[in-house]
Amino acid sequence: MTGISYDRATAEQYRLAREVPRAGLAAWRAAIEAAVEATAEAAVEATAERTPGLTPGTTVLDVGAGTGGFAAALHDWFGVHVVAVEPAEAMRALIPRAPATDGRPGIEALAGRADALPVPDGGADAAWLGSVLHHIPDLPAAARELRRALKPGAPVLIRNLFPGRADRDLRVRFFPETVAEIDGYRTVDGVCADFAAAGFVRRRLVAVPQESAPSLGHYARLLRRDTDSKLRALSDEDFERGMARLRAADPAAPATSWMDLLVLA
Ligand SMILES: C[S@@+](CC[C@H](N)C(=O)[O-])C[C@H]1O[C@@H](n2cnc3c(N)ncnc32)[C@H](O)[C@@H]1O
Repeated sequence: MTGISYDRATAEQYRLAREVPRAGLAAWRAAIEAAVEATAEAAVEATAERTPGLTPGTTVLDVGAGTGGFAAALHDWFGVHVVAVEPAEAMRALIPRAPATDGRPGIEALAGRADALPVPDGGADAAWLGSVLHHIPDLPAAARELRRALKPGAPVLIRNLFPGRADRDLRVRFFPETVAEIDGYRTVDGVCADFAAAGFVRRRLVAVPQESAPSLGHYARLLRRDTDSKLRALSDEDFERGMARLRAADPAAPATSWMDLLVLA
């Protein structure tokens, strides 16, 4: 488990340095759509009932929403209501709001934690957990809480790095010592076991690319060590060596980075 105390300055830096530009998320949009569709089909086979997926008017819980980059993307892409749950006040303050539809806010930002979600039983149609698994101290409790908050058959969409699967992450490419931190994260099998105990079944695991910045040069200029638990865990020497590698790379090259999408329902 890793911890960063997100004060206002760190939250603002997080938004600038860590939020992926929307144009860089096209593959994520497609991967989410495909995974949700496949999960809805699996629900039909299991229960003869189709879950609504991410359709306008449905509710997505964004757990550990940070500064709301994905909350806004999910709302804009799919017309869903997003309930963004985030414990750090400074991060929550930066979550964009969206105009109400059907008398409900497009994006609502609430204080809460993964193991104590401030939402009613069985009200949500999907959950999104972006880069947050390793911040949650009690993952089995969080899985039970998600089971309570979600409708039957609703997908849990997890975007994370996992031990043994992180080679194509940009931070790992330029700061290879970050692998030591990632090796301490829950494995895919471990996460699936925690969620299985709460009644979820593994549906899909795919690696998905993103363009973290318009180019590697941009990426190097935006990088802020304080906003990233993996970079903070490095020694100063390892961090500086990584920055030197990054500055020596072709600044016009794409800043493509890969992370996993793990889906349970
Ligand atoms: C690396 S950020 C990810 C933010 C956002 N999901 C994203 O993809 O940009 C991790 C977030 O998890 C939040 N967090 C920490 N502990 C948490 C917990 N127990 N439950 C939910 N969120 C938590 C932090 O405050 C932080 O905003």
